[in-house]
Amino acid sequence: MRRKLAAGNWKMHGSVSALAELTTLAAQIDPRGCETVICPPATLLFPACNIAKPTEIAIGAQYCHPQSQGPFTGDISARMIVETGASYVLAGHSERRESHAETDSAVHNQILAVWKENLTAILCIGESGEDRGAGITLDTIATQLSGSLPDGATGENAVIAYEPVWAIGTGDVPTLTQISELHDFIRAQLVRRFGDTQGNAIRLLYGGSVKPSNAAEIFTVENVDGALVGGASLQAVDFIPIIQALNDA
Ligand code: PGA
Repeated sequence: MRRKLAAGNWKMHGSVSALAELTTLAAQIDPRGCETVICPPATLLFPACNIAKPTEIAIGAQYCHPQSQGPFTGDISARMIVETGASYVLAGHSERRESHAETDSAVHNQILAVWKENLTAILCIGESGEDRGAGITLDTIATQLSGSLPDGATGENAVIAYEPVWAIGTGDVPTLTQISELHDFIRAQLVRRFGDTQGNAIRLLYGGSVKPSNAAEIFTVENVDGALVGGASLQAVDFIPIIQALNDA
């Protein structure tokens, strides 16, 4: 059984005052329900971990550099992330693939760094609108998955988030049939590469314009083990109904 996971990606949003949302969230989540992770900006990792420690919420970083230290101005390493108390790291989010030109091989190396510190990677993959228009969605996903997920992925150290780029922050959501096709495809790829046990243990999240209004139907799709949520994770009032929908699914 895969434990369901609701992950919130705050991106470059949220000030110290936004940490109050964590307290609100912690007070309302069901400890027997899904796992909940919040990925705040790097500046908030330490205080977020302090708030989350006695609660059921886990904290994640949004990126890490492949090296553990060195002359890399502005970057943070997995070793530094461990010190904050965080347990997850997002890797290969499409916004970083685009604005920081992160390639599959760079993401692959980041995940190795994440694993070296015994953290869990949430690998983001997804096709662009152009890919979908050109009918190459499955090729793009297969290439990203094989190129950015290192050997040795397990249900413990890796989560995959399928996030069609054209659905992120746009309000456009794929049909349930499209989500189902992609999640089944990713599951089959994982089973083929990592075997039945680990391939079926790795959780698959859907991401891209998940809202309280559409979460319940998305969670009916087989092989959707949760969501990676951007905008609707910034406020507990929006994220809580999504978590509840996941618990009810
Ligand atoms: P969104 O972002 O929910 O705001 O579309 C999702 C993501 O980028 O992870």
